[in-house]
Amino acid sequence: MEELKRQAAGRALEFVQDGMKLGLGTGSTAKHFVELLGARVRDGLRVIGVPTSEATRTDAIRCGIPLTTLDEIDRLDLTVDGADEIDPALNLIKGGGGALLREKIVAAASDRMIVIADDSKWVEALGRYPLPIEIIPFGVGATQRAIGEAFAESGVSGRMVVRKGQGGHVFVTDSGHWIVDAHLGRISNAPRLAGSLASIPGVVEHGLFIGLASMAMLAGSQGIRVIERR
Ligand code: A5P
Repeated sequence: MEELKRQAAGRALEFVQDGMKLGLGTGSTAKHFVELLGARVRDGLRVIGVPTSEATRTDAIRCGIPLTTLDEIDRLDLTVDGADEIDPALNLIKGGGGALLREKIVAAASDRMIVIADDSKWVEALGRYPLPIEIIPFGVGATQRAIGEAFAESGVSGRMVVRKGQGGHVFVTDSGHWIVDAHLGRISNAPRLAGSLASIPGVVEHGLFIGLASMAMLAGSQGIRVIERR
């Protein structure tokens, strides 16, 4: 599996050009990309990166990739990131690693987003993977009720679980929020659900990435499939 992830990362690296400003994703697949990119930087490639998590920041520094922030620059040429699920429209579920908020800010500030994954992430419809929803710790009960209503309006239902981290404590994101994982099974209209969740006051962001990915590199035993959004 790690070899497939690394192959997908290597393919995405072919789209990186000298002088690019890059969004650096989070997770085990994105970590391969950061390592491969670091090797190219050590060979003289000039790029600058914006990491999507503290973990990726640490990895990028270790790999010698120069970093900046979205305060210093306002647009990125390309973001390369993993995903938990990818559907045929290249809509995604992200946030399994808890970095969805920064990941979405970075992807939205990028001219292109390439998703890298092994082909187990490819699905006909999103939702088998629990949908991460980043929430403010204040008023969790009210926010969860509102999320339940948004589910009903969008024709989905399922168990919501506040994510726990190490030692059984509530998982806290890099930005100090909590995550609710919603076990929905199948999301028939992801754009509609995305819109409903975004309008709830206690919801900071959700893991549905709609219309953000322009290309996916899916590595499987038969090779790498490149899928472009139409
Ligand atoms: C991080 O919050 C996520 O969005 C990751 O991009 C996603 O979980 C994929 O991670 P892996 O590459 O480790 O499967």
